[in-house]
Amino acid sequence: MILVTGGAGFIGSNFVLEWFHHYDESILNIDKLTYAGNLSNLASLKDDTRHIFVRADINDSARVDALLAQYQPRALIHFAAESHVDRSIHGPADFIETNIVGTFRLLESTRAYWRSLPDEKQQTFRFLHVSTDEVYGSLGADDPAFSETTPYAPNSPYSASKAASDHLVRAYYHTYGLPVLTTNCSNNYGPRQFPEKLIPLMIVNALSGKPLPIYGDGQNVRDWLYVGDHCAAIRAVLARGHIGEVYNIGGNAEMTNIDVVHTLCRILQELRPGKIYTEQITFIKDRLGHDRRYAIDASKIRDTIGWRPEETFVSGLTRTARWYLDNEAWLNAVTDKTYQQWIDLRYAQE
Ligand code: NAD
Ligand code: DAU
Repeated sequence: MILVTGGAGFIGSNFVLEWFHHYDESILNIDKLTYAGNLSNLASLKDDTRHIFVRADINDSARVDALLAQYQPRALIHFAAESHVDRSIHGPADFIETNIVGTFRLLESTRAYWRSLPDEKQQTFRFLHVSTDEVYGSLGADDPAFSETTPYAPNSPYSASKAASDHLVRAYYHTYGLPVLTTNCSNNYGPRQFPEKLIPLMIVNALSGKPLPIYGDGQNVRDWLYVGDHCAAIRAVLARGHIGEVYNIGGNAEMTNIDVVHTLCRILQELRPGKIYTEQITFIKDRLGHDRRYAIDASKIRDTIGWRPEETFVSGLTRTARWYLDNEAWLNAVTDKTYQQWIDLRYAQE
């Protein structure tokens, strides 16, 4: 079996669901179920004995040690993290605790477990660390895209905490020989993304007639990747990646935020006509330290592993918008009182 951390979150749950479309191998899914973790993401696996869910914190080393010893996974895929940049600006402590200390503790547990394995299992074991393009900092309009050798220059507490975790993962390979793989991916979107991030927040607000809040001048650029394509890339790196290597993953879909929101409004117009959604767009105060542009050079994973994205931005966004329209109960459940408290804290005074 494989072990997945953070498998009740956005990317983790999509990864777990898709894994069983491709393989019969079991998954041990360890998740703390923070506000971002949601077991209803995995409801379709309720009676599937291949999926074993354990509510646990990656910082709880005794628990993680016991689970590793009991289930003997052949690989670990590490998604668990605090993932929202705006929350890291309001309160960085959880980001340090989970993304840095949690990754360190997980590496320590994994190292002890890995060393206890017989030689041939040690050789095939993998620790795949799921990271972000934000560790590379911010690009100017004409700068070349991030490659795997771009120096790290994180600018937010979130990206600094992910950068620290990447460094620890690298160090465990160089120092102890732990067979690690690291992936640095651009902005994901798709089903089951918590509506604090740009695209699902805009969908929720558009449908409920609320303002569509664009930070600053709306000209910040991100590269967008459909979550299913990210999951496929992770499976490919797990199967064919070289230990100790880093792989950048991107969607070849650089867009300004204002263009993203206009495209989304157009799609919603087709799927749920009746309103001119673009009339809800409002420009609000910028995010502190807001990175201007991210772009990914994904030639290494394409040329050495053979992965490339399948969805275009429009096809992926249409699938995403449809999913949110078809899953109103999911949306109602996650936009609860604690969600509203975050929205009030972040947007009320704007
Ligand atoms: P998410 O916030 O939706 O999910 C994170 C999951 O981790 C949740 O289920 C949460 O309960 C769990 N978790 C948090 N702290 C934990 C802890 N201490 N112990 C156990 N579980 C814990 O995040 P996501 O968007 O799915 O991102 C997953 C990973 O991918 C993160 O490492 C993130 O940095 C990385 N990433 C995300 C994106 C993106 O666009 N969303 C892009 C590149 C990389
Ligand atoms: O690049 C990968 C990263 O992408 C991941 O590592 C992070 O986990 C993920 O959250 C995401 O970070 P961003 O900060 O780029 O994503 P977010 O959806 O928060 O914002 C995308 C862009 O949209 C960013 O430029 C800020 C802007 N924005 C966001 C929100 C929530 C707005 O203009 N208005 C908003 O209300």
